[in-house]
Amino acid sequence: MTESAVRAIATGLARAGQLSSVVGVAMLEFDEAAARNLDRTYATPDIVAQRAAVLALLDLQPGERVVDIGSGPGYLLASMADAVGPGGTVHGVDPSPPMNGLAQARAGDRDWVHITEGDALALPLPGRSVDVAVSTQVYEYVADIPAALAELRRVLRPGGRVLLLDTDWDSVVWHVTDRARHARVMAAWEEHLAHPRLPRTLAGLLRRAGFTVNGQHVIPLFNPELHEDTYSANIMQLIARFVPGRQGVTAEDAQGWSADVRARAAEGEYFFSVNRYCVLAAAP
Ligand SMILES: C[S@@+](CC[C@H](N)C(=O)[O-])C[C@H]1O[C@@H](n2cnc3c(N)ncnc32)[C@H](O)[C@@H]1O
Repeated sequence: MTESAVRAIATGLARAGQLSSVVGVAMLEFDEAAARNLDRTYATPDIVAQRAAVLALLDLQPGERVVDIGSGPGYLLASMADAVGPGGTVHGVDPSPPMNGLAQARAGDRDWVHITEGDALALPLPGRSVDVAVSTQVYEYVADIPAALAELRRVLRPGGRVLLLDTDWDSVVWHVTDRARHARVMAAWEEHLAHPRLPRTLAGLLRRAGFTVNGQHVIPLFNPELHEDTYSANIMQLIARFVPGRQGVTAEDAQGWSADVRARAAEGEYFFSVNRYCVLAAAP
């Protein structure tokens, strides 16, 4: 299926209101606008480059059996399927049926891709059945990380590889004039997930779960200009919609914050960066 056809499905699903629980209702609720935002955000050059970095670190080989935990709309899933080829398998596992629909459409006729509704805490796979486990921007939403890592260990074959990627929201640098309001907005935004600073603890958690940690990497996203095809332009809209009513942030605060950020761009001094962190590990 072509990329534009998948985008049309994303918009249709969103219109039908089926994407309201993409990342967990208690945290980040995905309505129609947010669903469109997600599909756009993942297609920006920033996230395309992030996926290329992940694929380079993974170094997938033809014939490998891969699980993508929280496969979402399936961009990475489809690329991994091309890397392992028809002699391999890629399992996408995600609790969201609408996301799984998008991933299935993106996988197209690659019949070595299998997408199943499921959760990081109860993977629908037999023990020791995969060579490589990947989870990007998912564990930060999972409350019980030790339980998720125990489940990861169960499905990996001995020596199987793991790549986990998450954001540390302390790494955000965003040029604004009202830094106090910005701090309140970012504190409210942290409510969108369970672990806003997961990466700094993940290597230790993996070791305690019995894995060998083989490397940690930073993947910076950097927008020195604001335009609509950037990660920060898209995430700014999500943040402004999410924060009112949390941590004392009002709708006026959220609007004022967006206007502050946009004013910096209008004055030619836009500046945004955030870090993703990847940890590579191996099962015992
Ligand atoms: C920010 S998206 C990331 C999607 C994809 N991994 C990527 O990087 O493009 C988070 C995804 O995690 C999924 N998710 C949330 N909680 C999960 C859980 N407990 N187990 C598995 N997936 C989960 C959501 O449904 C959503 O598709």
